[in-house]
Amino acid sequence: MDAIFQRKSYRGAYLPDPVPRADLTTLLEAGLSAPSGCNKQTTSLIAVDDPALLREIFSIMDLPDCKSAPAVICVLTKHIAAYRDGWGKERCYSVQDYAAAIENILLEAVQLGYQSCWIEGHVTDADEQGKRIAEMLAVPDYYELVAVLPIGKAAEPLQSVQKRPFSERAWFNRFGQE
Ligand SMILES: Cc1cc2nc3c(=O)[nH]c(=O)nc-3n(C[C@H](O)[C@H](O)[C@H](O)COP(=O)(O)O)c2cc1C
Repeated sequence: MDAIFQRKSYRGAYLPDPVPRADLTTLLEAGLSAPSGCNKQTTSLIAVDDPALLREIFSIMDLPDCKSAPAVICVLTKHIAAYRDGWGKERCYSVQDYAAAIENILLEAVQLGYQSCWIEGHVTDADEQGKRIAEMLAVPDYYELVAVLPIGKAAEPLQSVQKRPFSERAWFNRFGQE
């Protein structure tokens, strides 16, 4: 619960200290350990710590807030069916799969003293930044790059957003019942 409560979307500057490969590997393992629908493991990950590649990614993303991050984790998904239901309809859980992987990474990042932010809107908008980043990283076209997670130590204070009260969003036994 400590990591869950401490996690915030961080959009400030990062300290220049590189993220050790051992920590990046731990973060990748955290992501890959997430559950996936029918264990299809549709999520793949690329940790980028090469400064030249980071510069190129940030020039494509045009997000001033995370430009100083010393590493990013790129989240890739493969849209494959988990199973076909009794009516012949294909069920694909790739979105849920990568969401679970991202949350694992964000929580482990907090545990290791790093900050991050789930950046998906920016990379999957109509200007297709994700597609351009994927091309740059030689990602095969049967994967879609759906999110980028900057990783690094915060150089600025964290900001909290207001969450609606528990009693407005969670109940026992019946909707709305305390
Ligand atoms: C699916 C999804 C997409 C998101 N995309 C972006 C994004 O493109 N850029 C960004 O700055 N934050 C993005 N966020 C972070 C949310 O804005 C953030 O989680 C929300 O404001 C709540 O703040 P908190 O993470 O500090 O609790 C995204 C979060 C989710 C779950």
